[in-house]
Amino acid sequence: MTTLPVSTFQAPRGTYDLLPPDSATFLAVREAISAPLRNSGYGYIETPGFENVELFARGVGESTDIVSKEMYAFTTKGGDELALRPEGTASVLRATLEANLHKTGSLPVKLWYSGSYYRYERPQKGRYRHFSQVGAEAIGTEDPALDAELIILADQAYRSLGLRDFRILLNSLGDKECRPVYRDALQGFLRELDLDEETRRRIEINPLRVLDDKRADVQKQLVGAPLLRDFLCDACKAYHEEVRELIGAAGVVFEDDEKLVRGLDYYTRTTFEFVHDGLGAQSAVGGGGRYDGLSEMIGGPALPSVGWALGVDRTVLALEAEGITLELPASTSVFAVPLGEEARRILFGVVTELRKAGVATDFAYGGKGLKGAMKAANRSGARYALVAGERDLAEGVVQLKDMSSGEQAPVALGELVATLQAKLA
Ligand code: HAM
Repeated sequence: MTTLPVSTFQAPRGTYDLLPPDSATFLAVREAISAPLRNSGYGYIETPGFENVELFARGVGESTDIVSKEMYAFTTKGGDELALRPEGTASVLRATLEANLHKTGSLPVKLWYSGSYYRYERPQKGRYRHFSQVGAEAIGTEDPALDAELIILADQAYRSLGLRDFRILLNSLGDKECRPVYRDALQGFLRELDLDEETRRRIEINPLRVLDDKRADVQKQLVGAPLLRDFLCDACKAYHEEVRELIGAAGVVFEDDEKLVRGLDYYTRTTFEFVHDGLGAQSAVGGGGRYDGLSEMIGGPALPSVGWALGVDRTVLALEAEGITLELPASTSVFAVPLGEEARRILFGVVTELRKAGVATDFAYGGKGLKGAMKAANRSGARYALVAGERDLAEGVVQLKDMSSGEQAPVALGELVATLQAKLA
């Protein structure tokens, strides 16, 4: 067997491994974000990690950075044009249409998901090529209460984690009636500015994205640009007002941000972003909005929908930025330490019994001496250690050691499960 070079052990650029103990925080964040969804009628959906490239080209938009620059697109050996999913919304809608969920159940179809997404971005802190989202989509209904529900649930998720330094930015992008009028007006304004070639091209393809340009010299020229707010049709205005009122009535604080445009083309009306002030450049911890036209864009019927996705990686960074350590119960409650061969066999049986009874138990494997085994017990975070040698077992007992007080007392083998269950309850 040849030895692999050291670089083989290096995760690809822009990716990182989730390892214990930190990985427990990731699981807890996924759990905290999905809990309010599961509690509000959202069912779990899982779609493939890759889709036909066409789905994203049509859905997310050919002119977006996500599709034009960041997609991991490839041709399979069989000639299929696929792409690793850069986001979840198009896939979830595709799956809904394929399974006819919008016809078989009542609307909206409410779904949540959790998984890995891939974008070939320039890596930096908080921006990875492989990242993790928990998302929610409510498909097939136009109702401001649905938009409000999603924003309120995301707020609840962040708060349940103890986060405080995040803000909710809210905007309306109008609909197919009023946005084209605004687009024309904006293009007229932008064409007069002194901008580079690429930005000039963007004016023609996706002028709203120009508003999002982070460069100071561009921002300076954008002062006085027409605002979508002033172009919203009456229906969009009323819809947006209702969303704002419902969120406000729920006690959720938000900021109106007329310049908020998102990096995906499918949005209409309500759009929002959750930003965290402790994260520097990559401050968006989540985002979403309404996408009333997406179903038709990918060849389906009209299905007005709304959703969001929260970034798990950035939420974990936000916790760090606020100095929040989640109180996670140690995964192991009891650690068994056998002294000698006979004790090993018997204690291993005890471990199996404890596990069956629901007590999280681990074992000192590999015939470690007492010192090494107790070190492992300590590391495991277990509240109790079970130590047994030949003499204990001859007497039908094991020594139960409280790892925090250091106190130790013999417990009869037959009473062990009940004793530990009572102590850990
Ligand atoms: P998005 O804003 O592109 O929206 O992504 C949502 C969140 O995913 C971001 O706010 C961020 O936290 C995280 N994220 C995105 N790219 C990266 C990256 N390269 N590294 C780390 N985290 C990242 C969407 O994906 C839409 N599908 C959301 C949606 C659902 N809209 C409607 N329904």
